[in-house]
Amino acid sequence: MVKQMIAPSILSAQRLNLQADIDQAVAAGVDMLHIDLMDGVFVPTLSFGPAFIKDIRTITQVPLDAHLMVCNPEHYLDEVIAAGADLINVHVESTQHIFRLIQLIHAAHKKAGVVLNPGTAVTTIAPLLATVDNVLVMTVNPGFGGQAFIDAMLEKIQQLAQLKAQHNYNYTIEVDGGINDQTIQQCAQAGANIFVAGSYIFDHQIASQIQKLQQALK
Ligand code: DX5
Ligand code: ZN
Repeated sequence: MVKQMIAPSILSAQRLNLQADIDQAVAAGVDMLHIDLMDGVFVPTLSFGPAFIKDIRTITQVPLDAHLMVCNPEHYLDEVIAAGADLINVHVESTQHIFRLIQLIHAAHKKAGVVLNPGTAVTTIAPLLATVDNVLVMTVNPGFGGQAFIDAMLEKIQQLAQLKAQHNYNYTIEVDGGINDQTIQQCAQAGANIFVAGSYIFDHQIASQIQKLQQALK
């Protein structure tokens, strides 16, 4: 059985008190930190750039999950790798050369993930499934924290879990968007094993929110 991992999305953390928020999340026993890179083009919003990952790397040993919501991800890849990201998730919709990017990430000895927008079918990435380390299913439209979970994405998670079992693939299945103590259970049942949560964790008391998610997975 694959380990269930909780990855707080620091997009919803307090920017001017970020280190304290991260310290609390790490102390509560999270498995990874999820960092959203947005360019205002692939998604309407701006968030962090690769330099930010480097800063976070200096304050924690926890694995870093970089979620690239940018056009031309190839322009950012070297910097994201050098910054110390451990898992690099690239949207299949953001590049014409997803396979090449996955090869580049692997050549740098990092874990490579492919991301599906809600409107993108699992079949789109069928040729990648034997190669990737992670598939990230967006369970909201990317770009903003605090949106409602899209129930129809559960079927996509099930499809990925089925394909994985059928072909003995090695990828983890990650979900991002609208994750709370209810939806985390639905996603886990469908076969997901990495759970990103932003507003659910950081809009309230961090440690107890993480505990509720951990509890929901038991
Ligand atoms: C949205 C980002 C998410 C976001 C999730 O585009 O990819 O990581 O922070 O936020 P919540 O958990 O609040 O839906
Ligand atoms: Zn994200």
